[in-house]
Order: sequence, then C-alpha cells, then structure tokens
Amino acid sequence: MSRRPLIFAAGVAPIYADRAKGSHIWDVDGGEYLDFGMSVSACILGYADDVVNDAVRAQLDRGVMYSLNHPAELELAELLCQTIPCAEMVRYAKGGGEACAIAVRIARGVTGRDKVLFCGYHGWHDWYLAANLDPASLDSHLFPGIDPIGVPRGLAGTAIPFPHGDLLALERAIDLHASDVACVIMEPMRSTESPPEYLRAVRALTEKRGIILIFDEVTTGFRHAPGGVEEFLGVVPDMATFAKSLSNGFAMGAVVGRRAVMEPAARMFISSTNWSDLVGIVAAITTLKEIRRRNVPALLRDFGERLMAGWNQVAGEVGIAARMYGTPQWPLIEFTPPVESSQEAAGAGRSDSVVGGGPSLARKLAALFAQEMAHRGILFNTHPVHSAAHNDSDLDRTLTATHDALTIVRDALHAGRIDDVLKVTLDPPVFRRLVQ
Ligand SMILES: Cc1ncc(COP(=O)(O)O)c(C=O)c1O
Repeated sequence: MSRRPLIFAAGVAPIYADRAKGSHIWDVDGGEYLDFGMSVSACILGYADDVVNDAVRAQLDRGVMYSLNHPAELELAELLCQTIPCAEMVRYAKGGGEACAIAVRIARGVTGRDKVLFCGYHGWHDWYLAANLDPASLDSHLFPGIDPIGVPRGLAGTAIPFPHGDLLALERAIDLHASDVACVIMEPMRSTESPPEYLRAVRALTEKRGIILIFDEVTTGFRHAPGGVEEFLGVVPDMATFAKSLSNGFAMGAVVGRRAVMEPAARMFISSTNWSDLVGIVAAITTLKEIRRRNVPALLRDFGERLMAGWNQVAGEVGIAARMYGTPQWPLIEFTPPVESSQEAAGAGRSDSVVGGGPSLARKLAALFAQEMAHRGILFNTHPVHSAAHNDSDLDRTLTATHDALTIVRDALHAGRIDDVLKVTLDPPVFRRLVQ
C-alpha cells in the first residue's frame, strides 16, 4: 500500500527503483529524482548511509545469526534504555506492525483484559483489523474499504478507535468498556503537534484507571528528539513501539517499556528466530548513535523550517491559495482553492478529499503539483518526508521547482483547465489518519 504508484504522481513519477543514495533515488530507466518519501520515512539519515552500511557490512562477515545470543543484543537494549524515557526493558521485532502486536499482547497478558482502545494506524495484524469486524470503525478513523477478510470473527468488539485530541471521547470509551480495557495505544502525534496537556491528561486518565498506555512511535520515531515524542513532549507512557527510522531502513523493531509491564512478558510466549538478526541490531545501534552524534532532530527541524518558509513564500509570490504547515520535522501541504460549487465546497479545504464520488478540486491541484514536481525530478506530495541527508542544494532545487510547478497549477486553475493538464491517475484517498 505505501509504495503503490499513486503515492506520488501515478503515470508521471517512476514506479520501480534501481538504487538510492542520500536524498536521491534512481529509477530502473536511469532517471534521477530528489526523494521526499524516504522509504515511508524509514531512512531518517538518508539512503544507504555510509556509517550504517559500513557497520552492517562488517557484521556480515562475522555472521548475522548464531545458536547463541550476541552481546550486541544487550548493547542495543542498553542504548534504548538510556535514550527513551519509558524504556527499562526491551523486546525486539522486525517491523512496526509486529512491534505493536507484541505490545498489545503484553498489555493483554499483564492485565488479563481483552479490549484495546486505539488511535491511529498500527499495522495489519488481527488485533487491529478486528476494529472492522462490526461495524467498520476504520472507515472514518483511518480509511474506508478495509475488509477484515481472514480476521477471526471472535475478535469483534475487542479493538475500539477513539479520536485524537478529544479527552472526553476517550473517557467515554473507557467508561463504556470499563474493566475490560487492557491498553490505550496511540500515535502521540504526527505532523501537527499534540498539545502536551492532552497527552498528559491521557497519561493521568489511563494511570487512574489501571490501563496500560502505549505510544506507537513507529512513524514519529526519532524525528523530534533522540528519545522520541515522549522526550519531546515530556509525557511518558508505559510502553512504546519503534521501527522504521530505528535502523535507517534495515528491518528492525522494538517494544520498550517500564519494568513492571515488560517483565511479565517473560512468562508469555513471544519469540522469533529473526529477532536476533544482527543486521537489524547493528543497524539500529549505529543509527541511534548517529542520530545523536549528528543531532538529526535539529537537522530535520532546520531543513523543515526553511522548506516551510520558502514554500509558503513561493506560494504567496505565485498567488495561489496553498500552504505548508505542521511541524517542520514532518510538514503537510494543503490547497484551498476558491469554492466553485457546493460540491467542491465540502472538500475544498482538504487536499485528500473526495466530493460527490470524484476527487475534489483541492485534490486535483495537489495532484497537478505533484505531477509537475515529478516532471522536474522531485518526488513530492502533500506530506513530504525529508531526511538528514537533504541539503541546501536540495532545498534550492525544491523551491525553484515549486515556483514553476505552482505557477502551472495557478495558470491552469485560472484558465479552468485543470482536467486538461492533469495527466496523473487519481484514486480515492487511501490513507487518511486522525493523527496527521
Ligand atoms: C504509527 C505506525 N504504526 C505502525 C506501522 C506499521 O509499521 P510496519 O509497516 O513497519 O509494519 C506504521 C507504518 O506506517 C505506522 O505509521
């Protein structure tokens, strides 16, 4: 889903990659692109980072899995415990969805309760998709149309979404399911900063009710602080899950948490051969050290601030109703064209909206912008992801292309010719999240 051609500009942007380095990616036809996807945000240091790759290469020659444990497994655990506020004990995984499934299993095991209240996206596993057994709760929470084929019907009613930012709604959900709730698992924030007081209130509420609080930091990762959002906002959950940027694109995940909730996991059957794979572990140790050494959160903030300021200035100069907003570590773009009809009015403010069964004008403008950026060798959509490898010349190139692309969008809009110049394929919005 995350790499489908429609993510950038289907029909214009390339589909298959051949190689990538730093902030750049080459397609199978030899075309070079500046990438603002960074492998679904996993490559926080940039593609094929020399330091991480050297460490992994050195490990390859010594073997990557043994019949015995390896001290690097402990080294990573200690590093995570030193870095992440809630971390006193650690479990490994190979990806984000898996880490969330482990965390939920542990929470259920510790509390002896079945129900999970969640907010955001947490992967493909049965516990999560159970939300769609009856009724299809993910339709409004995440995106419509996920058929929970293969998910046991017996899980109906065990996974219940709650909206981000609405403390009363969470309180009501907890009251409704009373003593059956094992945990609250949530993306603490994404592109727009959660007010710390909201997360503090969630923390206090879950603590009061004896419910385990899990922050899913798979995507926020280490973009805001070396210790994750919990360090950035100063709200400490019972457990947290990490993957993606943990290992700069190598397969790795981790569940970390307080000793009181993690220790009982030793009595639960949670085990896999590949969790000890030293490629992922060495990549994670090296990535975590590099994030700190290079002060990656500050680099991401600085680049993002200049990108946002530059982009908004260009949009103003071109004279188009569009803005880049959100956190500099993970900005968003929104086109707000003049309302042309009541149909468009409903979706004009959202670049991902569908109106009356077809894409809204705002979505078409966003798609045309992505199309023109792709024509200029830049993979860029309404939620661009930059890395520590994005540099000043990347920024200049992006803003120059933005000027040209937005000018084309503006002219097409004024001439009423959007449909004529739009060559990309548009599908219904797939990935709408409550936590942006
Ligand atoms: C917040 C969050 N949790 C979990 C996942 C699932 O991670 P993975 O794709 O590594 O299984 C994702 C992936 O996008 C995510 O954004």
